[in-house]
Amino acid sequence: MKTRESGMPPEEQWSGFFDPATVLAQLGLGAEHRCVVDLGCGYGTFAIPAAQRCRGAVHALDIDSEMVARTQDQAAALGLSHLKAEQRDFLEQGSGLPTGAADYVMLFNLLHAERPELLLAEARRLLAPGGTLAVMHWNYDAATPRGPSMSIRLRPEQCQALVREAGFRVGPVLSLPPYHYGFTAVR
Ligand SMILES: C[S@@+](CC[C@H](N)C(=O)[O-])C[C@H]1O[C@@H](n2cnc3c(N)ncnc32)[C@H](O)[C@@H]1O
Repeated sequence: MKTRESGMPPEEQWSGFFDPATVLAQLGLGAEHRCVVDLGCGYGTFAIPAAQRCRGAVHALDIDSEMVARTQDQAAALGLSHLKAEQRDFLEQGSGLPTGAADYVMLFNLLHAERPELLLAEARRLLAPGGTLAVMHWNYDAATPRGPSMSIRLRPEQCQALVREAGFRVGPVLSLPPYHYGFTAVR
């Protein structure tokens, strides 16, 4: 089942909200990462630059077949054969990847889900000890041009608390201009 308020606007609009390469650099994704998982990859806005940044496998998962096709097409056009996009409902089916397989998991613009603890439990299962969870979310500011309704939008400290409760060691909040914040957490 699709998480609440997780629909996407047209790609040109969505990609204008971020500077993905800078976001990934700020959130510590590096060439040394061997297995990256993007839970709810959307258009591949972050999975594609992640695959350009690191040599290891990149698994991009989304429930929406159009998102998966778009991500896979871009990867093919750019010769990023280490990126695999797969249609998957990670709430119903999990990610399908082995326990401890990943060293970097991305949860971007998703923690306003009805049951964020389920997403975080899957991220924790996927990560090897010492692995990194990267979280990004819309600023708690009604003036952002998109983002979840303010009634379900999480403040940075609420996001951090959820991640801490899921068993991670949580780092400081970073500003990811113009509309987002993020942080990393260690498994
Ligand atoms: C708001 S978008 C964010 C996309 C991407 N993380 C980004 O920041 O560019 C959320 C994505 O999660 C996907 N999604 C929602 N529920 C899902 C589920 N149960 N399993 C897999 N993907 C899901 C949606 O289809 C959508 O593409």
